[in-house]
Amino acid sequence: MKGKILGVIGHPIEHSLSPAMHRAALRELGLDYPYDKFDVKPEDLGNFVMGAGENFLGFNVTIPHKVEIIKFLNSLDREAELIGAVNTVKFENNARGFNTDGIGALRALEEAGQPVGGKNILILGAGGAARAISFQLAMEGAQISLCNRTRERAGELAADIDEKLDKSAEILDFPLKEKLDEFDILINTTSVGMFPDTDKSPLSGEILQPDLTVMDIVYNPLETKLLRNARETGCRTIDGIAMLVHQGAESLRIWLNVDAPMEAMKKALLDELG
Ligand code: ATR
Repeated sequence: MKGKILGVIGHPIEHSLSPAMHRAALRELGLDYPYDKFDVKPEDLGNFVMGAGENFLGFNVTIPHKVEIIKFLNSLDREAELIGAVNTVKFENNARGFNTDGIGALRALEEAGQPVGGKNILILGAGGAARAISFQLAMEGAQISLCNRTRERAGELAADIDEKLDKSAEILDFPLKEKLDEFDILINTTSVGMFPDTDKSPLSGEILQPDLTVMDIVYNPLETKLLRNARETGCRTIDGIAMLVHQGAESLRIWLNVDAPMEAMKKALLDELG
């Protein structure tokens, strides 16, 4: 694979944290691959992907290309196919798409001592991240409930999970009002609480209970209001860096078949976030 490169494509791309994280990993592993960011406009995506196999071992894909890129790939792995979005491309004989967001969330939960099989998991949101996470966790045997501001989108995701995995997902009204007694794990996939709206939370802290594990995929700030409320309630908390590091680690495994240096990656992200 000498001479091949890695990177991340998106538009805009300047704020991506992926280069810092992956460069730290490659340095730690002693692997000599450059990892750069590429600003690819939507109208240029097809040409970019079709010419990329020459130079790239693979790349990460971010907003707005995660769904659109599929039509330019030769094959998809099972998760990407189910989720309908790709965040990692690998070139071997041809271009194959993967989605490591769901597995990143799963590994973050496992790392925190929370295997998901048989657990009742409530997912807030119904966008791309919610899709990846709910499919992955449903495949692992979790019972998924969904709650989204726009109830219809949660309904569409639930119908898709039912159709593709033959599993039912309950829909709860937004905003949540009842105490979350029946759930083991709560995952926020909405952007509520993200900088600069750090005084906002997707739910009232009063409905949390101490047995709940609360994960937020927002990583800026590292401790969102939701996670602060959860910590003060006595919940186990998992911050957004955990999923970010684990989805990156899975991309590295796909490209290079390596065990990623998690600590070095996490440190690079924390440095980058200041
Ligand atoms: P991503 O791909 O990161 O999941 P997305 O597809 O834009 O991003 O989804 C964002 C999610 O955050 C959605 O579930 C959105 O709810 P709607 O479907 O109702 O738009 C949710 N979201 C964003 N801002 C919100 C807010 N102020 N209150 C509640 N939910 C919000």
